[in-house]
Amino acid sequence: MTYRVLQWGTGAVGREALRGILDRSDLTLAGVKVYTDAKAGLDAGELIGRADVGVRAALNVEDLLAEADCVLYTPRTPSVDEVCRLLSAGVNVVTTSFAFHPARMDAVDRDRLLSACRTGGTSLHGTGLNPGNLGVIVPLALSGMCREIERVTVQERADWSMYDSVDITFDQMRFGAPPDEVTEQVESLRFTSDLFRQQVWLLGDTLGADLDEVVTDLEVIPASADRDVFGRTLQAGTVAGQRWRWSGRSAGATRVEVETLWTVAERQPAHWPTPQHGWTITIEGTPSVRTHVMTLASFVRDVPLAEHVQSASVATAMQAVNAVPGVCAAAAGFTTMADIPFVWHRP
Ligand SMILES: NC(=O)c1ccc[n+]([C@@H]2O[C@H](COP(=O)([O-])OP(=O)(O)OC[C@H]3O[C@@H](n4cnc5c(N)ncnc54)[C@H](OP(=O)(O)O)[C@@H]3O)[C@@H](O)[C@H]2O)c1
Repeated sequence: MTYRVLQWGTGAVGREALRGILDRSDLTLAGVKVYTDAKAGLDAGELIGRADVGVRAALNVEDLLAEADCVLYTPRTPSVDEVCRLLSAGVNVVTTSFAFHPARMDAVDRDRLLSACRTGGTSLHGTGLNPGNLGVIVPLALSGMCREIERVTVQERADWSMYDSVDITFDQMRFGAPPDEVTEQVESLRFTSDLFRQQVWLLGDTLGADLDEVVTDLEVIPASADRDVFGRTLQAGTVAGQRWRWSGRSAGATRVEVETLWTVAERQPAHWPTPQHGWTITIEGTPSVRTHVMTLASFVRDVPLAEHVQSASVATAMQAVNAVPGVCAAAAGFTTMADIPFVWHRP
């Protein structure tokens, strides 16, 4: 069976998804939606440095929806209106941008998305790296070895100065803003924080942790000097580090925690934990299990730093691309990472 996939957005993740769709033998490219005027009309191959493939990017792809089984939705900021339109038009949606555990989303958005799935007979799936394979699927896979689980912890340690999606770094994540303006009350941070809260709920709900609440804690640190980040300046004194903790509690005890230790070319303060860069997953239980994972362009070849950084976008995109067949085959409604059949690589 071959699935026709429309790629929605051609940023760092979207371009890697395009490569993945073109390379996977059971997927065909049904169209490419872009937001940038200068990209409209370009061949999809040109957008990723390959020969033309005969599919042109467009600002408006509504007329292509009837020819698509699935939209691979990777815009910077998702639109619930837009995704409802896609789902109710009969197109499944796999996204790296939101909907990691839609059942725990804002109730109004959740109900609209579910109703759109039912109207279109379609499924919505959120996935990626973290939240995604490393933040949800790996902990769940490890839990299969445990008789009892006291606590699951997912830690992500990263230096964002190497991440070239600067709109996300500065505008969405508010690095470079004055410290008192970086709080969970800021709209874009509330949105991002909610994604990780959904991740904690998904782990807790799936593992039967009986969570009562997910509590958020944020600490920011200032830059000690001006920093250049892909042509934008992060000024001394503005935010250069964010330590977030989303703690899922049952009867006051933390049972599931996601922690991010994010800096932009700044040393971590001494009181922050120091897991290795990348992702560390720890289960305290019987038995206790820990693993550290990182994505690199290669562990054997000498490659430029930019390629190592890009490998995280490849991983994010490929987890979504490889989920397409499972999501297209799923029943109408929300298909979480805990519901979908195991996702693995296929050429
Ligand atoms: N789950 C995970 O592990 C994970 C990991 C990384 C990223 N993500 C998420 O994946 C998504 C894509 O990330 P990225 O690194 O590819 O970002 P990016 O490189 O900054 O790409 C931005 C994308 O947003 C599009 N865009 C431009 N203006 C827009 C607008 N007004 N509204 C909505 N989108 C607009 C761009 O369109 P063009 O196609 O015209 O360039 C491009 O496709 C983001 O939501 C990000 O948070 C998730």
